[in-house]
Amino acid sequence: MNQALKRLDEEYTMLHYPYYQKDKDSFLDAQTNLTDFCISMLTPMKGKKVLEIGCGNGVQAKYIHRKFSPASMTAIDLNSTNIEIARSEAKKLGVKDIIFQIDDAQKLSTIETRSMDFILSIESAFHYPDKSAFLREIYRVLKPGGSFLIADILTIPRKNTSLRKFWKKKMHFHHWSRHKYENELFKAMLHIKSLSDITKKVIHGFENYKYWLKTMKKKNFLDDFFIIIFLSIHVEINMYLLRKRRQYCVIVGEKPYKNLIL
Ligand SMILES: C[S@@+](CC[C@H](N)C(=O)[O-])C[C@H]1O[C@@H](n2cnc3c(N)ncnc32)[C@H](O)[C@@H]1O
Repeated sequence: MNQALKRLDEEYTMLHYPYYQKDKDSFLDAQTNLTDFCISMLTPMKGKKVLEIGCGNGVQAKYIHRKFSPASMTAIDLNSTNIEIARSEAKKLGVKDIIFQIDDAQKLSTIETRSMDFILSIESAFHYPDKSAFLREIYRVLKPGGSFLIADILTIPRKNTSLRKFWKKKMHFHHWSRHKYENELFKAMLHIKSLSDITKKVIHGFENYKYWLKTMKKKNFLDDFFIIIFLSIHVEINMYLLRKRRQYCVIVGEKPYKNLIL
């Protein structure tokens, strides 16, 4: 996916869905809109310690670091290729103060307890088989009063056919419903401050895709043809799923200073 999306702008792009702001936004603009929307849901990050979980190729971490000036930024991902890309791109750009490391969202073994003011996880959580462990880790590594933001693709509860089960297993998808998230966040002693359904904005963002393909720099007929087919199918499937079966939600919450044990 890194390489396919790189064909659109000839540079690595963020690895998440687009968020509609205006017609003729480039793919990168539309993805940046999503990051900006997420960060606008939080209090200012300037001078704070931020952890991004599931950072992919690091494009988003670099953008956040540049635009919102946290005191420190750590970005982790389970995929070693993504971390290598993140590190080498950061080196090329002379970005020294983001720590990119391999870690698992469900363990966070490289992150100290009560060390972070903000935790972000954007379009990564649906890959985690044990999302409850991920929520417990958020609780552990956040400072009391610290905030988290999870942008995730939720499922609208329905019966799983064998084909659907096979597909989810193959794609490493572990979608939760909104109800399940609310229950599990409560169990993890994390307090939800807001839950925004931005599905329509994301679908509208995707609807610009023919414009991105038109403006893509062409290489040779065969290569262009395959990339256009691949990206078109990918976008159409995602739009279909978002229209019929899924919800794109941004959950913002905090680790309370004190927890009432009921
Ligand atoms: C769709 S990409 C999103 C990347 C980035 N957050 C962004 O918005 O551009 C999802 C990322 O989650 C990572 N991921 C999947 N399972 C993970 C896990 N258990 N722990 C950490 N990262 C994980 C994948 O390797 C992938 O890079």
